Order: sequence, then structure tokens, then C-alpha cells
Amino acid sequence: MKKSYLILLIIMVVGLPLSESYAIQSYESYGRVVIGNFSPQAGMAKVVFDHWLHRSQFTCRVCHVDIGFLMEKGGTRIKAADNMRGYYCGACHNGKLMANEGPVFKACSIPPDLNEMPRCDRCHSFGKVVQKKYDFSTFTEKLPKASLGNGIDWEKAEKYGLINPKDHVKGSSLLKKAIPAQKDFSLNSKTPWMGDILFSHKKHSKWNGCELCHPDIFIGVSRGATKYNMMQIYGGEYCGVCHLNVAFPLQDCSRCHIKPVR
Ligand code: HEC
Ligand code: HEC
Ligand code: HEC
Ligand code: HEC
Ligand code: HEC
Ligand code: HEC
Repeated sequence: MKKSYLILLIIMVVGLPLSESYAIQSYESYGRVVIGNFSPQAGMAKVVFDHWLHRSQFTCRVCHVDIGFLMEKGGTRIKAADNMRGYYCGACHNGKLMANEGPVFKACSIPPDLNEMPRCDRCHSFGKVVQKKYDFSTFTEKLPKASLGNGIDWEKAEKYGLINPKDHVKGSSLLKKAIPAQKDFSLNSKTPWMGDILFSHKKHSKWNGCELCHPDIFIGVSRGATKYNMMQIYGGEYCGVCHLNVAFPLQDCSRCHIKPVR
């Protein structure tokens, strides 16, 4: 075994759970993003966005391609005015879009009416005790379990039809033809002691379309064109763009390295 690999393994096994992004988290807070570029200056609480609730209803592609949120905490620099014009959160939170038997509650209104404050609080909730419609444990009760991340096996939840994330939002997405399937393939882990990785294009495209990965994360012209290793993934590049904070986390080695050690 090469020395550099041994060091890498030690970093992964010891360092991963201790690093900041892996600080002990609850299932509920995995994938939570606190957005606070402008709210505090305006005297509002920061905004709390939960992936678990939203990804159960929409694909990653809808938000990160059609609506255009960056996959980076605070990176989009959302303004109240954008939401009010129907962009970003306001693409759905406009008081009109129907979901779950009713219109989705509206985002920002400036200036606010005093009796609108409880609605503001549903998003501007950081550090507050707020009455919400969805409770994590009730909502996830019937979903198949996993030990890491949200504690939910999202792949199975989708496969068994327990969730049915929409790939389209009225006004923001163009209706498209079904995405052409791509072959699944395996990636060689380059070490004799870590199993090879089986990558499923089919399963990924269901959530991510093609545009979320190509060409920004993977050039995608031909397999092997992009060289990357576990350290880069762990640093939030390549597979790590999603598998660090939202899709099942990197500690779950065997969900990627599934092919038996040769
Ligand atoms: C659907 C979620 C949502 C709701 C509901 C909501 N907001 Fe916002 N609001 C946001 C997000 C996201 C931001 C950007 C947060 C940041 O970067 O600080 C924001 C930012 C703001 C800002 C920051 C300053 C600016 O001009 O952008 C103000 C003020 C604001 N909202 C007021 C309100 C008021 C008042 C209400 C209730 C009437 C409200 N918001 C309801 C999501 C929401
Ligand atoms: C309803 C919209 C929505 C859906 C659906 C959604 N996201 Fe996000 N995502 C966001 C928003 C909003 C942010 C924060 C952007 C910002 O702060 O500028 C975000 C941030 C992220 C981040 C950065 C997190 C961090 O802590 O830095 C990643 C990674 C991500 N999303 C991946 C995904 C994946 C993978 C899926 C599908 C399983 C998904 N998202 C589904 C809206 C969504
Ligand atoms: C693609 C559509 C979509 C986008 C974009 C979106 N949401 Fe939502 N959001 C929903 C739907 C649908 C619900 C469930 C509403 C219901 O059932 O009443 C929801 C629910 C919520 C809730 C739950 C409130 C509760 O009482 O449990 C919060 C908080 C929230 N969204 C915040 C945000 C913020 C903040 C943003 C932008 C950063 C955002 N959402 C962007 C569709 C969206
Ligand atoms: C989750 C990320 C992801 C998604 C989503 C995705 N791909 Fe890929 N794609 C990859 C990776 C990883 C490779 C291998 C490239 C590498 O390792 O440099 C690849 C390679 C390819 C290749 C080259 C194939 C080969 O065997 O050389 C093509 C063509 C391609 N993708 C098309 C698509 C299309 C079309 C879609 C949508 C149906 C899609 N991809 C969705 C990650 C993705
Ligand atoms: C999200 C999927 C994923 C997870 C989870 C994952 N890996 Fe990897 N791993 C990869 C990919 C992709 C490669 C690179 C394959 C290639 O070279 O094309 C890789 C490569 C490696 C290598 C080969 C050396 C190198 O740096 O490239 C080692 C060792 C490794 N992983 C260890 C681990 C360990 C230990 C864990 C758990 C802590 C883990 N991996 C979790 C996807 C993953
Ligand atoms: C654009 C975001 C994104 C990127 C990049 C990405 N994934 Fe995923 N991946 C997901 C989502 C979303 C799921 C659904 C399961 C979940 O969220 O936990 C998933 C599921 C998986 C699964 C389980 C599916 C199955 O076959 O049962 C594996 C394995 C996996 N990813 C490996 C990889 C590897 C290896 C890479 C890099 C080559 C990668 N992923 C890059 C978002 C991504």
C-alpha cells in the first residue's frame, strides 16, 4: 500500500467525522442552509431553508437549473425584491402556485403588514421558535431509513413511489422531452483495497437532469477526461459538490465503493 494512500485513509476515517461540516448534526438539520446576506441589516431574522422538505417535492434540477439557485450557501444573494418579482423563492412562494392542495405561501412583502409577520417568520426563522406546518419526524416517519445524512434513503423513497419529486415549475421551467438515458459505468478506485465505484447515470439524471453535472462539474465528453481523487471530493469538488451536504454524505463509503475489492 502506498504511503500517501495510507495517510489519506487516516485523514478520511479520523478527520471526516471531526471536520466542521461533519460536526454532529441531527438528521433534520442535514441539508439545512441558513441564508443571511441581507436580512440582519434589515432587522429581520436570517432565513432557514431545509432541503429535506423541498427535495421530497422537487428535483434538484428544478431549483438549481431552472430557478438558478447556486449550490453554495449564501452564494445566490437573494433579495426580497427578487422574491417579490417571482424569482428564487418567489418562483414558488407566490401565493398562487398550487402544491399539496393549496397555494404555496407568499415570500417577502415590503413594506409588510403587521398581520403578515407570522408568514415572514416561517422563512425568517433563524434563532426563533416558529410555528411550522411540517414536522420532520412526522413527515419522514414512513420513508425508508438510512443511517447517515437525513437518516432517509432518498433513492428508495423515490423508487417505491413514496415521494414523487416534480421536475417542472409553472413559469420557470420549459416543458421538455424526457431525458435520454445514459449508460451506467464503473470508476476504478485506483487502490487495491477500496472497491470500485458504480456510477448510475440513470439514477442521477432522475434527480439532477444532465445540466447540473455537465459541463460545470464534469466536462462529460468522455469518461476519464476529468481526473479527480478522493481528496478533491472530500474538499467539495466533483461528487463532493452534492455528497458533502445534501445527497448522502461521504462517510457512507460503501454506498459508492460497492464493487468488491479485487
Ligand atoms: C418563502 C420564504 C420567505 C418568506 C415567507 C419571506 N421572506 Fe424575506 N427573504 C427571503 C430570503 C431567502 C431572503 C434573503 C435572505 C438574506 O440573504 O438575508 C429574504 C430577504 C428579506 C429582506 C432583506 C432585505 C432585502 O431587501 O432583500 C427583507 C427586508 C425581507 N426579506 C422581508 C420579508 C418580510 C417583511 C416578509 C413577510 C411579509 C418576508 N420577508 C417573508 C425569504 C422569505
Ligand atoms: C426548492 C429548491 C431546491 C431544491 C429542490 C434543491 N435545492 Fe439545493 N439549494 C437550494 C437553495 C435555496 C440553496 C441555498 C443557495 C444560497 O444560499 O444561495 C441550496 C443549496 C444547495 C447546496 C449547497 C449547500 C451548502 O451547505 O453549501 C447543495 C450542495 C445543494 N443545494 C444540492 C442540492 C441537491 C443535490 C438537491 C437534490 C437532491 C437539491 N439541492 C435540491 C434550493 C434547492
Ligand atoms: C420549487 C418550488 C419552491 C421553491 C423555489 C422554494 N420553495 Fe419553499 N416550499 C415549497 C412548497 C411546495 C412548500 C410546501 C408548502 C405547503 O405545503 O404549504 C414549501 C415549504 C417551505 C417552508 C416550510 C414552512 C412550514 O411551515 O413548514 C419553508 C420554511 C420554505 N418553503 C422556505 C423556502 C425558502 C427560504 C426558499 C428560497 C430560498 C424556498 N422555500 C424556495 C416550494 C418551494
Ligand atoms: C451526477 C452527475 C451526472 C449527471 C446528472 C449526468 N452525468 Fe454524464 N457523466 C458524469 C460523470 C461522473 C461522467 C464520467 C466523466 C469523468 O469521469 O470525467 C459522465 C460522463 C458522461 C458522458 C461520457 C460517457 C463515456 O462513457 O465516456 C456522456 C456522453 C454523458 N455523461 C452524458 C450525460 C447525459 C446525456 C446526462 C443526462 C441524461 C448526464 N450525463 C447526466 C456525471 C453525470
Ligand atoms: C459519493 C461517492 C463516494 C463516497 C461516498 C466515497 N468515495 Fe472514495 N472515491 C469516489 C470516487 C469517484 C473516486 C475516484 C475514482 C476515480 O479515480 O475515477 C474515489 C476514490 C477513492 C480512493 C482512491 C484514491 C483516491 O484518492 O482517488 C480511496 C482510497 C477512497 N476513495 C476512499 C474512500 C473512503 C475511505 C470513503 C469513506 C470515508 C469514500 N472513499 C467514500 C467516490 C466516493
Ligand atoms: C449534482 C449532484 C450530485 C453529484 C455531482 C453526484 N451525485 Fe450521487 N447522488 C445525488 C443524489 C441527489 C442522489 C440520490 C440519493 C441521495 O440524495 O442520498 C445520489 C445518489 C448516488 C448513489 C446511490 C444511487 C444508487 O446507485 O443506488 C451513488 C452510488 C452516488 N450518488 C455516487 C456518486 C458518485 C460516485 C459521484 C461522482 C462521480 C456522484 N454521485 C456525484 C447527487 C449527486
